[in-house]
Amino acid sequence: MARSARPPLWLAIIIGLVLLVGVAWALGGGPDGQSDVPTGGGATTDAVAARTASDGGTTTATTRTPRATSEPRITRERRAMARLARHNLQVRAGGGRSKLVALTFDDGPGPDTMATLRELNRLKVPSTFFMLGQLVRYHPDTVKAIVRHGHEVAIHTWSHPDITTLSRTELENQIFDTRAALRRYAGVEPGLFRPPYGSINDRVVRQLRPARLVHLLWDVDTRDWTGLSSQEMVDMVLATATGGSVVLMHDGGGNRSQTVGAIDGIVTGLRAKGYEFTTASRLLMEDPPLESLPAPASTAPLQSTPTPTAPDGSAPPELNPDAPTTPVSSPSPNGEGPSPVE
Ligand code: NI
Repeated sequence: MARSARPPLWLAIIIGLVLLVGVAWALGGGPDGQSDVPTGGGATTDAVAARTASDGGTTTATTRTPRATSEPRITRERRAMARLARHNLQVRAGGGRSKLVALTFDDGPGPDTMATLRELNRLKVPSTFFMLGQLVRYHPDTVKAIVRHGHEVAIHTWSHPDITTLSRTELENQIFDTRAALRRYAGVEPGLFRPPYGSINDRVVRQLRPARLVHLLWDVDTRDWTGLSSQEMVDMVLATATGGSVVLMHDGGGNRSQTVGAIDGIVTGLRAKGYEFTTASRLLMEDPPLESLPAPASTAPLQSTPTPTAPDGSAPPELNPDAPTTPVSSPSPNGEGPSPVE
């Protein structure tokens, strides 16, 4: 009697194995516990849209980027940006209903990116890096570390041209090759794009529409490339940043030690005023922009910057050729609403 009431040993072992497999499966979902990877039929239409325009004719002989070997991670943020891109293609900042601020760093990755990252990590400030596609492969560990520490990578073109001067094919190469590089080296699908110099027009907006990227400009410019000291940058940002602000800084394009030195003061000062920091995508999710900016019919002519040539396996361009030579926004007297597209 007692024997028949107790399950046999082999049955107990099988049940135990099934439970173990089940627990392991439930805890899975990615090497870092992320569960945002679309799986099979779980991909939303947004996720699908995020992948549109990703293939075909987007590389040239000189800027070819190897295709991703694995599917990029399509995050919740990327889906939200695809939705936002339906309505707000150009955005300067959040809606201002929050106490959130996003620090953004352009023109990397480069020699100063790791120092920038270390400072942000020390202060626990999630930030967004708008990268140049042609530099990504020379700093793979930096790019991976950025993502691993919870920051965001985004598209800033392949080689920093004024995109309003490009043909459609050239434009697509600039954007989609950079996206491919980020997919490959960062393993994520970027949802934000920032045009170099803030230079954009209706044609560019129209031609990039299928990519479902939010075109993010900024409302606070540190002008860190003009030789300002760290303290001058801190003072300017503390005087002008408001809820929903997107702060433009640089981690590439030249020596950024003053920028790195300004991060602590900016973060500490804004936190003292009650502000918190997040990535640009999360800021736009939690504090959506109020309305779309009208695309300017044209932009002022810009000084030409040397167009960097793809290195073709030669020495990596450690010095970003970007170094903005033309002010893309002048600080407005009241610190609000500088016009980065002029
Ligand atoms: Ni730039």
